[in-house]
Amino acid sequence: MSGYVLAIDQGTTSTRAIIFDGEMRIAGAGQKEFKQIYPRSGWVEHDPEEIWVSVVSTIHMALREAKIEAKDIAALGITNQRETVVVWERETGKAIGNAIVWQDRRTASYCDNLKRQGLEKTFMKKTGLILDPYFSGTKLSWLLANVKGARARAAKGELCFGTIDTFLIWRLSGGKSFVTDATNASRTLMYNIAENKWDEDLLEILRVPAAMLPQVKDCADDFGVADPSIFGAAIPVLGVAGDQQAATIGQACFEPGMMKSTYGTGCFALLNTGADMVRSKNRLLTTIAYRLNGETTYALEGSIFIAGAAVQWLRDGLGIIDRASETGELAERADPTQEVYLVPAFTGLGAPHWDPQARGAIFGLTRNSGRAEFARAALEAVCYQTRDLLDAMQRDWKNGKDDTVLRVDGGMVASDWTMQRLADLLEAPVDRPIILETTALGAAWLAGSRAGVWPDRKTFSETWKRDRRFDPAMDEKTRAAKVKGWRNAVKRTLSEP
Ligand code: G3P
Repeated sequence: MSGYVLAIDQGTTSTRAIIFDGEMRIAGAGQKEFKQIYPRSGWVEHDPEEIWVSVVSTIHMALREAKIEAKDIAALGITNQRETVVVWERETGKAIGNAIVWQDRRTASYCDNLKRQGLEKTFMKKTGLILDPYFSGTKLSWLLANVKGARARAAKGELCFGTIDTFLIWRLSGGKSFVTDATNASRTLMYNIAENKWDEDLLEILRVPAAMLPQVKDCADDFGVADPSIFGAAIPVLGVAGDQQAATIGQACFEPGMMKSTYGTGCFALLNTGADMVRSKNRLLTTIAYRLNGETTYALEGSIFIAGAAVQWLRDGLGIIDRASETGELAERADPTQEVYLVPAFTGLGAPHWDPQARGAIFGLTRNSGRAEFARAALEAVCYQTRDLLDAMQRDWKNGKDDTVLRVDGGMVASDWTMQRLADLLEAPVDRPIILETTALGAAWLAGSRAGVWPDRKTFSETWKRDRRFDPAMDEKTRAAKVKGWRNAVKRTLSEP
């Protein structure tokens, strides 16, 4: 059998298909952006049909570039933007509305309501999550309440709920497979991560009929087969993980204490805590890192909603840069005597503040502040937020600060300036790997190892190679002053300081 493995990385702003060869090198790739729909302030939607079309077309692009055919692919792995909710008809496969995206804040008051009933502890205990509109459960509940007849149809088994992985597998398999994996399930507010099952009490609270939920599998498992009518040959789907968990796997963070941080639209840091389901005292999430051979590995997660999106805002919102890649160079030229802070709470603040009502703010502007200072403030905001997560993780978990090394990936890590600033502000080394496509690689490894064409976990870990380590070099006084300034800026941005 060939060693070609196809990974679909269905992200928040674009879909990518990447074909890796038997040596785990990229043989071909395709990418397509799709529409972001903002029906109201704080609402974010995607068109599921457009996502599906983007998946099919990027797979064709990747096959063409790799100069192979579908029959040459040994296995398919799927990784996806997490928490985003799709509901479709079992009979026709048609979605009953747009997908509600993880960034969408429409259920903020519903979450407040559940909190007022004293239910946050119950959700935290069972799911490891916080009552925030970020997660799927309240979004699903909103759809069932707001699309006419949906709840009754769901109870009769006529409607299916899925995160994006589930929807894609349903479509790929021609409606034969209705499945998800443990990592995606762990982001829904409906999945009990200790017992590894959908939780009846939570379903009742959220008024979600169990009949509409998919079967939950290990991350490397038999998820179904892509119908030969789509690509000309049947391709087995053998790996699934949410994108942040797939990046954790792709970064080979398999040992407790290993940590990765991915800088995409948002930034998500995951610390592997092994079989220990660590309960955060600092408003971090406890989540499933992966489940392999029925064994669950847990992680502490810090989720920041805006990272690369702040740079996008400089480009598309303010129009002060032409290309995202200019930002680092521009930041380097910023006036060191100006302390400009951007708190990018564009869609509220995630960990450790969890303030859905907060909105972005900028502090410290002078007559001399210009493009460079804005660019530096946007990049530093990402570094400061990572620092807040790291501090919370260190308070929560026994592995102290001293030996923390952060493995980084995602678009923003290409900038040396940003990575050096990150190490400086974290007071911890930052490791950038040679292969930056860690999310797709993680999904591909799940599928390829399951197919028996890629190496086992240990051998795979040994292939991880560092491109460069960034060691902290900023003097203590400067760092302390900067971090203090940041915390002060955040305080002034919170909706209830
Ligand atoms: O939890 C949301 C996350 O999965 C989205 O990731 O890379 O699409 O920003 P990304």
